[in-house]
Amino acid sequence: MSQYGAIIAGTGSFVPEKRLTNDDLSKMVDTNDEWIVQRTGIRERRVVSEGESTATLATAAARKALEAAGIEPKDLDLIVCGTISGEMVFPSTACFVAAALGLNSTPAFDISAACSGFLYTLQTGVSFIKSGLYRNVLVIGAETLSRLTDYTDRGSCILFGDGAGALVLQRSPDPKLGVIYSSLHADGHGWEMLCCKPGSRHPIGEALLAERNQYMKIRGREVYKFAVQRFEELIEDALRKCELKPEDVSLIVPHQVNQRIIDSAMHKLGLGMEKAYVNIDKYGNTSAASIPIAFDEAVRAGKINPGDVIVMVAFGAGLTWANAVVRM
Ligand code: COA
Repeated sequence: MSQYGAIIAGTGSFVPEKRLTNDDLSKMVDTNDEWIVQRTGIRERRVVSEGESTATLATAAARKALEAAGIEPKDLDLIVCGTISGEMVFPSTACFVAAALGLNSTPAFDISAACSGFLYTLQTGVSFIKSGLYRNVLVIGAETLSRLTDYTDRGSCILFGDGAGALVLQRSPDPKLGVIYSSLHADGHGWEMLCCKPGSRHPIGEALLAERNQYMKIRGREVYKFAVQRFEELIEDALRKCELKPEDVSLIVPHQVNQRIIDSAMHKLGLGMEKAYVNIDKYGNTSAASIPIAFDEAVRAGKINPGDVIVMVAFGAGLTWANAVVRM
């Protein structure tokens, strides 16, 4: 066990101004507000406008997190960004964020783990702190999924939105504070359930574009079952490993995948819905950005306070799944 803790010193989030409502989508594909709300809980999502991109959202969230932590960009030892819709194929989005913050030698890199991306990023930042190497690490989840969404496919276009969230992790002399537990998992056999194909196997060209494979493809019903099962297992694992009872947990901040998935898992676990922070109605699924946006909103709404125990769970393409437990 490390002699250090990795505490959350500040949080921030940013979403674009532009709203895409269910009524807007019903003018684009054969769907309607009632179906979308009933099946997903989503009422609207935010999408970027011209001039906005994953790095601009990430930088805006990062500035707020730095301000909340009371530190300057120059105090950062590392920047890690979880994203699957980065600024470019390369360089990494984290490099663009570092430059926008005025930094010119701070290490910066991205992590790709889809909807589990933020928890993979968090655990990476925590490991650098607990190893004793770094004191201040900025971890970000940022996505512009509207750029990868097929707005002719009603089975997927209703789900996704854009946004970014960031946390400043700081070294603490108390190893029992901050992120006290995390587990990360992956099973690449399930890659076809959820994917976006452009890359070395499917280079961008006519064959790819003819099948509209420049966009995300999902098998919603299969992902649904996977998500409910993992959600429960991840919560049970977190409680067992940290020797916590359900009543010890102040708040669960889940990946915002689908209101029904969250309701169903919370019900099966015997937990009241007041224990889950949900904002999917406003933003849809923002993949790696969903947990840090929700976490920041909960902090700013006074729903996360010193001494609280917070459990985060995520699952997504890869397949990947992950959890984290924080003692504030
Ligand atoms: N509007 C109206 N009808 C729609 C629709 C839409 N936007 N999308 C699908 N339908 C139709 C289907 O065509 C199907 O019609 P049919 O019965 O005539 O064949 C019917 O609704 C049911 O489709 P189904 O896909 O079984 O619905 P569902 O209850 O599973 O809900 C999702 C679909 C996508 C909302 C749900 O499966 C889900 O949230 N899955 C996980 C989401 C995900 O993958 N997130 C990303 C990874 S974390």
